[in-house]
Amino acid sequence: MDKIIEFDKVINSRRSVRSFEKGYKLNSGVVERSLERAIKAPNSSNMQLWEFYRIVSEDKKQQLVDLCLGQEAAQTASEFVAFVTRPDRWRESRDFNVEKLSSIDNEYVKKKVGDYYNKLIPILYNNDKLGLKGVLKKIYTSITGLKKPVVREVSKNDVRIVAHKSLALAAQNFMLGITAEGYQTCPMEGFDSKRMKRLLNLPSWVDVSMVIAIGKPSKDVLITPQFRKSLESVCFTV
Ligand SMILES: Cc1cc2nc3c(=O)[nH]c(=O)nc-3n(C[C@H](O)[C@H](O)[C@H](O)COP(=O)(O)O)c2cc1C
Repeated sequence: MDKIIEFDKVINSRRSVRSFEKGYKLNSGVVERSLERAIKAPNSSNMQLWEFYRIVSEDKKQQLVDLCLGQEAAQTASEFVAFVTRPDRWRESRDFNVEKLSSIDNEYVKKKVGDYYNKLIPILYNNDKLGLKGVLKKIYTSITGLKKPVVREVSKNDVRIVAHKSLALAAQNFMLGITAEGYQTCPMEGFDSKRMKRLLNLPSWVDVSMVIAIGKPSKDVLITPQFRKSLESVCFTV
């Protein structure tokens, strides 16, 4: 019972804050601990196609404010973490899972490694630059899907979405962790993505899903009441 009370407290107190105490130094370890929480998020096939970039140098922070179009949250935050998808890292993630699972002495697990990580995962993730393989896979799944249920999200762009879904769950773990540590965050997607990748030395084929600003809310920050559409209007029983 205590657990759920504490859990609800964290959920209910997390807010997107747009004005932080400028120059405030976060307690040490807050970001590291919250990143440890982030990587425990459920993620598709445990492929962990994500990377996290902490922006700490003053010079990069200044540039980042500009790329976030001067948003106040960016101007005043103590730190930033960019949440980045890495679908191109699928081979090493696959190998990592195979290695970990192979050390488990269990026939079911061994079969899963063979069938899943060595056969299915490459079919899903192995895409070429132009996405042509993905087009062929789409055609193939549309045909096989006429007779039986199939996974249809097999194109290069579908895999991008797969990576974003898992990354967003990591981002939420991270933000709740920061709130539980006594600070607040502002997730931002309002930035120049091309220049942001350049700032972080990232290749063009990855996505910066969100840049999360972290800080201590400023004393006079305006936080409007949190409002949502009613649950009844978005939840359906079928
Ligand atoms: C993916 C994503 C992108 C967002 N981008 C921005 C942003 O660029 N700037 C901003 O001020 N807020 C941004 N937000 C915060 C939302 O506006 C905020 O979560 C929403 O208004 C609900 O408020 P709450 O988080 O306080 O409950 C973003 C939130 C998410 C999840």
